[in-house]
Amino acid sequence: MLSRRPRRNRKSGVIREMVEETRLSTKDFIFPLFVIEGTGKKVEVKSMPGIFRFSLDLLLKEIEECLMLGIRTFAIFPAIDDSKKDKYATESLNGEGLYLRALSEIKKRFPEACLMTDVAMDPYSSDGHDGLVKDGQIVNDETLEILGKMAVAQAGSGADIIGPSDMMDGRVGYIREMLDDAGYTNTSILAYTAKYASAFYGPFRDALDSAPKAGDKKTYQMDTANRNEALIEAELDYNEGADILMVKPALAYLDVIRLLKDNFPLPIAAYNVSGEYAMIKAAAQNGWLDGEKAMVESLLSIKRAGASIILSYFAREFAQLQKQ
Ligand code: PBG
Repeated sequence: MLSRRPRRNRKSGVIREMVEETRLSTKDFIFPLFVIEGTGKKVEVKSMPGIFRFSLDLLLKEIEECLMLGIRTFAIFPAIDDSKKDKYATESLNGEGLYLRALSEIKKRFPEACLMTDVAMDPYSSDGHDGLVKDGQIVNDETLEILGKMAVAQAGSGADIIGPSDMMDGRVGYIREMLDDAGYTNTSILAYTAKYASAFYGPFRDALDSAPKAGDKKTYQMDTANRNEALIEAELDYNEGADILMVKPALAYLDVIRLLKDNFPLPIAAYNVSGEYAMIKAAAQNGWLDGEKAMVESLLSIKRAGASIILSYFAREFAQLQKQ
C-alpha cells in the first residue's frame, strides 16, 4: 500500500484551506491610482479596462470606497499636461501643481490612508525619461539633485512612503540624506530595486502619456536577462537605507523576487505592472480565460515567490472579491 498519499490533504475544501501555505489578504496590497487635472473626470485607460484616471474630486471618492473595502495604501501617479513638461521636470516641485496638491488633499481628507509616491522625472519631463537628458545621455548625478528635491517636496505634502522608480545609481542614499536633512526621518523609502527594462510598462505609459521621446530606458533600467545584477542593486539599496525592496515587473520575475527574499532581511514588494494586468483583462474579455481565477492565481504566485507587499491594479477587484 502507499503510505504517502498527498491527495489526503486535498480531499475536501476544509482540509485544502487548512493546509494552504500562502494566503492573500487585502492588507498585502498597494493600489496604484492615476490623477488628472479638472473636476468630474473619470477616464478609462484604454489598455487597462477597469482602471481610470481621476480628477482629484473623484479620486477622493475612489479612495474613500477603497478604504471601505480594506485597501489602505495607495501609490499615486500624475498625468501631467504636455504644456507643463520641461527638461528639468520643474512641475514636480510646484506646490500648487497637480501632484503635490493631490497628495496634501488626500492626506487631509483621509489621514488614515497610507500614501506612496513615485520619484522619477518621466511624468514631468519633456524628454519622457526618468532622468535628465543631456546630449542624448541620461546623466546620473545631476538627476539625483532633482530627485532629492522631488522626494522632499512629496514628503512635505504628506507622502508616507517614497518610491524612487528612476533606477539612477546612488539615489536611495541621496534621497535618504535629503529627507533626513529636511527633518523627514520618518518618511520611508520603498526602493524600486530590481526594475527591469520591460515591455510590460506599455499601458502605464499610455495612461500617463509618458513614453520616452527618443531611445529606450535600457541604460538605467535592468537587462531582463540578469539575476546577479539584482543582487548588486539590492545590496546597494539595503546599504543606502531602503526600508523595502521591490522587484518590477512581478510575473516574469518571480525568480528575482525569491532571490531577494532569500538574501535580504527587508520586506520584499513586487509590482504587478500594467501590462500584466492588461494581458489577463484582454484574455478574460475575449472569453479565453476566467479573469477572476487567473487574477487570484497570479497574485498568489507573487506572494508565494516571496513578496509580502503587492502593488497591483487588481487590488480593488481582489478586495471586492474578499468581501463577498
Ligand atoms: C516611471 C514608472 C513606470 C512605472 C512605474 N513608474 C514606467 C516606466 O518606468 O517606464 C510602470 C508601472 C506599470 O507599468 O504599471 N518611472
